[in-house]
Amino acid sequence: MSTEVKQYPVTEDAAARAHVDAERYARMYAASIDDPEAFWREQGQRVDWIKPYSRVKDTTFGPGEVSIKWFEDGTLNVSANCIDRHLATRGEQTAIIWEPDEPGEDALHITYRELHAATCRMANILADMGVAKGDRVVIYMPMIPEAAYAMLACARIGAIHSVVFAGFSPDALGARVSGCDAKVVITADSAPRGGRKTPLKVNTDKAFKHCKDSVKSLVVRRTGDDIPWDDARDVDYNEAVKTASDSFEPVEVGAEDPLFILYTSGSTGQPKGVVHTSGGYLVYAAMTHRFTFDYHDGDVYWCSADVGWVTGHSYIVYGPLANGATTLMFEGVPTYPDAGRFWEVCAKHSVTQFYTAPTAIRALMGQGDQWVEKHDLSSLRLLGTVGEPINPEAWNWYHRVVGGGRCPIVDTWWQTETGGHLITPLPGATTLKPGSATKPFFGVQPVVLEPQTGEEITTAEAEGVLCIKDSWPGQMRTVWGDHERFVKTYFSDYAGYYFSGDGCRRDADGDYWITGRVDDVLNVSGHRMGTAEVESALVAHEKVAEAAVVGYPHDIKGQGIYCYVTLMNGVEPSEELRQELRQFVRTEIGPIASPDLIQWAPGLPKTRSGKIMRRILRKIAEDDFGALGDTSTLADPSVVDDLIENRMNRK
Ligand code: WT7
Repeated sequence: MSTEVKQYPVTEDAAARAHVDAERYARMYAASIDDPEAFWREQGQRVDWIKPYSRVKDTTFGPGEVSIKWFEDGTLNVSANCIDRHLATRGEQTAIIWEPDEPGEDALHITYRELHAATCRMANILADMGVAKGDRVVIYMPMIPEAAYAMLACARIGAIHSVVFAGFSPDALGARVSGCDAKVVITADSAPRGGRKTPLKVNTDKAFKHCKDSVKSLVVRRTGDDIPWDDARDVDYNEAVKTASDSFEPVEVGAEDPLFILYTSGSTGQPKGVVHTSGGYLVYAAMTHRFTFDYHDGDVYWCSADVGWVTGHSYIVYGPLANGATTLMFEGVPTYPDAGRFWEVCAKHSVTQFYTAPTAIRALMGQGDQWVEKHDLSSLRLLGTVGEPINPEAWNWYHRVVGGGRCPIVDTWWQTETGGHLITPLPGATTLKPGSATKPFFGVQPVVLEPQTGEEITTAEAEGVLCIKDSWPGQMRTVWGDHERFVKTYFSDYAGYYFSGDGCRRDADGDYWITGRVDDVLNVSGHRMGTAEVESALVAHEKVAEAAVVGYPHDIKGQGIYCYVTLMNGVEPSEELRQELRQFVRTEIGPIASPDLIQWAPGLPKTRSGKIMRRILRKIAEDDFGALGDTSTLADPSVVDDLIENRMNRK
């Protein structure tokens, strides 16, 4: 197998300019594993500390207690690290390039000095609304500079932000506002995206029905749309900003004080609030941004993610700004007004590093090379991908057509929980293989475990579940308000390790190939979703008795959402009902959770003890029912015949 894989050695150009070449990678990696304490003591200096740390690493993955602390006795302010410390040397340099949804609208170039003033004004407004250190603030915003100001303003105050992706429904927003007991929701009138608008303020008002009366909202005028208004609760940012002071003293926080909470889906129950703290997270985000993307002064770096996801946190805002970089923020979508938009933006702003998701690459690949070839992409030096495994065909297209055959591709494997890249090529050090995330980052010790026994597979070539042996500074610290869930989710199945939830293969060269989730988590267009969440949305509908949700292979999205639905007695299935259920799930969770296929299931395959046999449902959804395996333990084997007969994903 590995002999057939085409390899791309480090290019001369990448080697010549890179911060890290192969020799340095080997040396630094060995040092990071041999003596993590010494390694991170030095790397921690990437960040400016108010009070320096004396302790570096204090972590245990159990058994028993799980506790993760880095640089614990140090203090700092994250916004001062992302802004103030650059003012003397690069105050007039562009910090953020903002590209609006409509190509006809002017882009903005915000300097570090302007970013400082804007962040301070936002911090003053929030402080006037009663936000103080340790308070939670939810950010439900379009991709506009004010979203970054809002994050940094919270960090400046020492408040904890929780960004909720603007594509989430009012119900999902309300659950998150209540879940972290937020004092304020920062939102906008509407969010333009791909020529359409999401009514964020209207959604926020609806979400507030599920929240405490005391929650306030701060509303940014993005479109100027007419919006409902409640003087007792709503503060107009565009008014307040006129008189807000443009200085605000950064608040000193401990390294282990939370910086943000980000809700993400798991295999059971409702989304959990992943908690990241200040010191270790920032060190890790800055370091990975610098080395993985080989960022140098003068580069224009663009990550096309949304700040609603961790990628936007670490690689649009915190990592780049901590490094004094120029980071591009894009409000729109890859295909608006046409399939050339990404490349038009790259050419317009002379982007040097471009980081996006495989689903976008696949969608654009399908539109034809002419959309790329129209634009001058000679400024590009490096390409990146994240979010799901990239198929070699898409990798090759990205490399050849977008990168002109000269740009290394960094396929970065990581998770909301990990804060930053864990397995990734470094452009000056790593031989690339299309589809492989290749090698661990500094300080990261991946292990492949035999799924059943949990034994570590120590041969070079290995296939099993992907775990991490020891901590790294960017690791999540807990689940907000539920440390037990943290321990149970990540440290119980395989004692002593961090369990990623992914399967992987390690080849003879020690390169890692991520094979996808081994739990009941779907990855739909790079968006993570629990099958349990979609199921609970479906069964909340009055006509649904029972539902089981699985993923199936989808050409563009990676995975599609396949739902088996058993209706209440006497309810007739119909196409209208299918639409109704689809809409219902969108309302409960958001458009990203929209079911692709809904099959009416008179019964679900269950064991005699009543457990749904998902393995069978997955096979049927994959149109691979020849390999159903043993069905003899089913309470009623005949339901399977009906499901096969009426399967919806026929190739
Ligand atoms: C899951 C994490 C990390 C930011 C975006 C997603 C999958 C992520 C890769 C990659 C193969 C990948 C994994 C992981 N994933 N990157 N390069 N190759 N799979 O963050 O929403 O927390 O999802 O995304 O399955 O567990 P997330």
